[in-house]
Amino acid sequence: MNYRHSFHAGNFADLVKHALVLWLLRTRQARMQGRGPVTVFDTHAGAGLYDLTGDGARSREAEAGVLKLMASQDLPPTIAALAAEVRAVNDGGAETRLYPGSPLLVARALRGDDAYCGFELNPPVVELLHQALVDYPYADGLAGDGYVEALSAVQAAVKAGVRPAPLVLIDPPFERPDDYVRAAETAMAVVRADPKATVAVWTPLKDLETFDGFLRRLSGDVLVAEARLRPLTNPMKMNGCAMVVLNPPPGAEAAAQEICGWVADTLGDAGARAEVWRT
Ligand SMILES: C[S@@+](CC[C@H](N)C(=O)[O-])C[C@H]1O[C@@H](n2cnc3c(N)ncnc32)[C@H](O)[C@@H]1O
Repeated sequence: MNYRHSFHAGNFADLVKHALVLWLLRTRQARMQGRGPVTVFDTHAGAGLYDLTGDGARSREAEAGVLKLMASQDLPPTIAALAAEVRAVNDGGAETRLYPGSPLLVARALRGDDAYCGFELNPPVVELLHQALVDYPYADGLAGDGYVEALSAVQAAVKAGVRPAPLVLIDPPFERPDDYVRAAETAMAVVRADPKATVAVWTPLKDLETFDGFLRRLSGDVLVAEARLRPLTNPMKMNGCAMVVLNPPPGAEAAAQEICGWVADTLGDAGARAEVWRT
């Protein structure tokens, strides 16, 4: 397992993913208010918190991503919400040294009996995940294969009749050839188990044939939110990314348009664009 998310933390793709995850969580919390807690499963949790000045940040992707975000003014609400979280994990200071991953972002946003459970396969990263979540009693980081474990957890909740309608983030490294198939199959299995679940899958945009093959494995109500920073002319390079949301809540299309539009306009080359559409 070679993938190290610390090389990519805070890049444009993290901003798209994390701004939309925050919006999905807060929207679900608003809808569930008084009707029960929100549960979040994160199949590929990563470390939870990244030091942008550390060795792992050598690619400097954060400079073209979160550092530009934090220097920008007049942010739309979905992007401003993420910027506020980044500022908070940096103790409100002017310097942006730390970037929160999905586990910490979600853990910080939990309310009441809401719960987060993230899975991670790489032992040293599991250790970092535990450290990142140590102050959050309703957030768990567990060692395990997130495709298998998150699906089992959703199935077990349905069987027990508890914690319905979870929010599930599937965010693989795509370093293995079967990640697209496993991500699509897990997403479909989750909504089959709990038709009220919302599942968000992050994917890179490199070549459209691979992306098309992934989308064809999905059915039902599927929202595709793409941020393309430059034309997809080189299949070896991540020139864009997408969040693909199964069972998106009302308002998701507008939120995704705001997020992908801001990222493409602010961080992309000339010709960058956002595409938000339903399959
Ligand atoms: C893209 S990173 C996750 C980033 C995180 N979701 C975030 O937004 O901050 C992918 C992580 O998945 C881990 N991983 C790879 N295969 C996995 C699997 N089958 N189950 C759980 N974790 C896995 C990798 O070690 C890596 O830390």
